[in-house]
Amino acid sequence: MKTNQKSLQPIEDTTDVEYVIRGVIDAENSAIEGYNKLIKEWDGVDYVTQDLVITLLADEQSHRTVLRVT
Ligand SMILES: [Fe+2]
Repeated sequence: MKTNQKSLQPIEDTTDVEYVIRGVIDAENSAIEGYNKLIKEWDGVDYVTQDLVITLLADEQSHRTVLRVT
């Protein structure tokens, strides 16, 4: 299996929490990007599916907000 997400691959130092959090934030960003594309694709085609994807997008945005510490 070929993966294209590099930031969540196993690392030597499994105690590197910051690395893991950054990887999860990258995953959230990828999901958000994908859902935004789907929302545009379904606009005017299938509003039920579009609404479902909007809900999923909100979930991912919420997850990303929780993980971001400034
Ligand atoms: Fe998420």
